[in-house]
Amino acid sequence: MSHQLAIEHDVIGVGFGPSNLALAIALDESARRSRLKCAPLFVERQPHFTWHGGMLLPGSDMQISFLKDLVSIRDPTSPFTFVNYLHKRGRLLDFINCRTFYPSRLEFNDYLRWVAAQFKSQAAYGETIIAVEPVTAGQTVTSLRVHSRTLAGGETVRLARNLVVAVGGQPYVPQVFAKIAEDSRLFHSSRYLDTVERAGFGGRATRIAVIGGGQSATEVTVDLYSRFPDARIDLIFRGHALKPSDSSPFVNEIFNPDYTDFIYAQSSERRDAIVRNFRNTNYAVVDSDLLDQLYRLLYQQRVGGETRVALHPRSEITGVDARPEGIEISLADKFGGRNRRSTYDAVVLATGYDRETPHAFLEPIRRYIRDAVLDRNYRLVTSPAFRPQIHLQGYSEASHGLSDTLLSVLAARSQEIAESLLSTISRRELIA
Ligand SMILES: Cc1cc2nc3c(=O)[nH]c(=O)nc-3n(C[C@H](O)[C@H](O)[C@H](O)COP(=O)(O)OP(=O)(O)OC[C@H]3O[C@@H](n4cnc5c(N)ncnc54)[C@H](O)[C@@H]3O)c2cc1C
Ligand SMILES: NC(=O)c1ccc[n+]([C@@H]2O[C@H](COP(=O)([O-])OP(=O)(O)OC[C@H]3O[C@@H](n4cnc5c(N)ncnc54)[C@H](OP(=O)(O)O)[C@@H]3O)[C@@H](O)[C@H]2O)c1
Repeated sequence: MSHQLAIEHDVIGVGFGPSNLALAIALDESARRSRLKCAPLFVERQPHFTWHGGMLLPGSDMQISFLKDLVSIRDPTSPFTFVNYLHKRGRLLDFINCRTFYPSRLEFNDYLRWVAAQFKSQAAYGETIIAVEPVTAGQTVTSLRVHSRTLAGGETVRLARNLVVAVGGQPYVPQVFAKIAEDSRLFHSSRYLDTVERAGFGGRATRIAVIGGGQSATEVTVDLYSRFPDARIDLIFRGHALKPSDSSPFVNEIFNPDYTDFIYAQSSERRDAIVRNFRNTNYAVVDSDLLDQLYRLLYQQRVGGETRVALHPRSEITGVDARPEGIEISLADKFGGRNRRSTYDAVVLATGYDRETPHAFLEPIRRYIRDAVLDRNYRLVTSPAFRPQIHLQGYSEASHGLSDTLLSVLAARSQEIAESLLSTISRRELIA
């Protein structure tokens, strides 16, 4: 285990996905404007920048307009817009001719990588943050000691005056699958591409179950169908039918930055009711074009007399067993129909993501955290003698609304956090 001398950073970002990437831009632009010197470092677990790489499926598109990139809604003149990326890549006119607001996820990933490359000097890839400890002077916590584990197993220690945690969701494994979670034939959709590309399902009659009724489950089902012509795929979900996501214009206004102010000002009961009411904009729903594609695929199967893809709605999973011949799943029809038991060569859990706080790596400073609810600037409320600011991105859907886990308000949120952080950076650091 190698220990490096602790270097102090103004801000350490935990994770370098779109949220902290947007923050890197906002900090850089705001610091320049206010002639402040700010030295952030973003520590990222992956060896290089990738945006949900396990789901970068050929043919999958963005679910948000490219104009909601990392900066445009705050400053369309920024050099980090998607439009400038297209211009630099020499594809602006061709993109215009595609006549779409929704680029492929592969292209948006390339845009994000293009931005990340410009902040390479502020990023440490291949390191996982494992613990954040208080550094004290008397009763006061003055900064944070941040421990990370490298891919090679070494440990690095750095000091941070402030922390911004943006680690995304953790793949959710339903309890019924917990006892076989280590079985290599079971995997979450977040690892889909890496796993199927290695699995060698091609050329044999593989049986695959996909669990869930959301966007990931549907994308995976369609991808399996085209990728493995000999596979039989069961899509298993609890609802009556696959449902479309509501992306209609009036509803979409809940993803505007000013809606965050509105929802934050409500009582917690009202916030809950609003989030519940608009859940079908995002969770357990499917883009309507993809639904049409799947429906046509199923119809064409019937025309050709094949049954490679089968839908199993209203299905509760009552038991799971790992057997040598495959994973056995028992299903109960929620409305009293036929119960079934089937064995699969592989099971894909497209069961969404968990966002539980506080994060395990914050455990050593937990006693200083006063409230689980973040303030309007996404800052953890801590005890008065705790000087560092800790901001969380993507962990305040209940208080800041459904845009919190998405790309929708990144440009605005990162600016709010950047201003809050820069207000703490001493005027002594004014650039001469
Ligand atoms: C397949 C998929 C497609 C999506 N498409 C859209 C879309 O089209 N539009 C939209 O608005 N939203 C979409 N989303 C929602 C998604 O949450 C956001 O797009 C976006 O990824 C949120 O960015 P983030 O940086 O907060 O989180 P993430 O993108 O999840 O990034 C978090 C980063 O933190 C790193 N990390 C985690 N733990 C640690 C640690 N302990 N130490 C160091 N690094 C760590 C991870 O490796 C990761 O790179 C999609 C989600 C999925 C799963
Ligand atoms: N192309 C893209 O842009 C793209 C692609 C994929 C994902 N995404 C985004 O990623 C986010 C997550 O989407 P997602 O589809 O991964 O997750 P999700 O929308 O949260 O859906 C999870 C699904 O898993 C089911 N589920 C959860 N627990 C279960 C259990 N115990 N047993 C059976 N089923 C269970 C849920 O069913 P219930 O409803 O019955 O609970 C739901 O249908 C969304 O924001 C989505 O838009 C975007």
